[in-house]
Amino acid sequence: MKQKIEVASSRPYSIYLGAALEDLGAYLEKELGGSEHLLIVTHPSVKEIYLERLLKGLNAFKCDVLVVPVGEEEKSLERLSILTAEAVACAADRHSVVLALGGGVIGDLAGFFASVYMRGIRFVQIPTTLLAQVDSSIGGKTAVNHPSGKNLLGAFYPPLVVWTDFSTLQTLPWEEVQNGLAETVKHAILGDPDLFSFLETHHREILDRVPEVYEELATRSLQVKVKVVVEDEKEKGQRMLLNLGHSFGHALETEAVYQGISHGQGVSIGIIAATYLAEARGLITSAEVSRILNLVNSLGLPIDIQGKDPEVLLHLMEADKKNQNRHKVLILPDKIGHAIVVRDAHDEEILQAWHKVIK
Ligand SMILES: NC(=O)c1ccc[n+]([C@@H]2O[C@H](COP(=O)([O-])OP(=O)(O)OC[C@H]3O[C@@H](n4cnc5c(N)ncnc54)[C@H](O)[C@@H]3O)[C@@H](O)[C@H]2O)c1
Repeated sequence: MKQKIEVASSRPYSIYLGAALEDLGAYLEKELGGSEHLLIVTHPSVKEIYLERLLKGLNAFKCDVLVVPVGEEEKSLERLSILTAEAVACAADRHSVVLALGGGVIGDLAGFFASVYMRGIRFVQIPTTLLAQVDSSIGGKTAVNHPSGKNLLGAFYPPLVVWTDFSTLQTLPWEEVQNGLAETVKHAILGDPDLFSFLETHHREILDRVPEVYEELATRSLQVKVKVVVEDEKEKGQRMLLNLGHSFGHALETEAVYQGISHGQGVSIGIIAATYLAEARGLITSAEVSRILNLVNSLGLPIDIQGKDPEVLLHLMEADKKNQNRHKVLILPDKIGHAIVVRDAHDEEILQAWHKVIK
């Protein structure tokens, strides 16, 4: 075990970093007594690679494994209903504990399932993607999607514990790594200038996937998220900062109907658009804009995109959940390591920012 971070919240919990999958069982035996029934919710490929390691430590427990097909579309009420039937079939009761073994889709879905099954049962986050380790497993947000909107049905439902084994990153496809890197760049820009410098200095090792560098960047990145969510658990203010790049990014993802553009690509271009807008407002220096462009580019993330219509993207930004009284609420960096919430951005300046990232 390398590190333990306590997260203060309405239900405080710990994040264990560098925690081997095999050791979770011993921890749960100590915390829970060892007689509980565990429901392990996971993806097929993650089951294939990691279930055996996890089960090694869980001999004292009765375990059932619920496998969810891959895909964002599985974060659905239909899948929730299937999980419910499966849980009932293996006699899960109020004392059962859900283990979410996988990325953000599994964490959000299994967490939301745990929040409503028999009015709430305990759950453990075991994040296996970079995005889940630095972002989605922290902060207690759980959700499923609805045809009317992404993450429309959800709950703030903190886990019992977050158990992070960085060795799982070694089998993660590069595109999935990039989704987590985009969130890490976001965290660096909005809250940690030293993390930003670390990413600049180590961009080659990041491309070479050096494990020690990933441990360091993930640990620093998730600490930014912890700091923000501890200050604003229920997203009444500061937590909005975590949406840096996402208002623009979501518009791009929606326009592409989530095909052909990954979340990380959307966030990266979104960060660049927000940075250009900040520069046009005189909030950030052109030297800092260059550093942001260079870093994103050096990590193999996109800084521009072709063949999009800025007007269409502007229109899509109207659906952003952060918007208030029809005003678009944007998060803009005002220096590397700090960002602000802006509520008075005009459509004209947003369009100009879009024009700068559309080649
Ligand atoms: N709750 C939050 O605060 C929050 C924050 C950010 C994102 N999210 C959500 O997270 C989701 C995206 O999560 P994601 O990016 O982790 O995607 P994902 O969960 O779909 O996982 C991506 C792919 O990687 C595979 N995979 C997972 N771990 C692996 C490993 N170690 N080795 C090989 N393959 C592995 C998965 O099976 C899947 O095919 C979205 O639904 C998003 O809404 C939630």
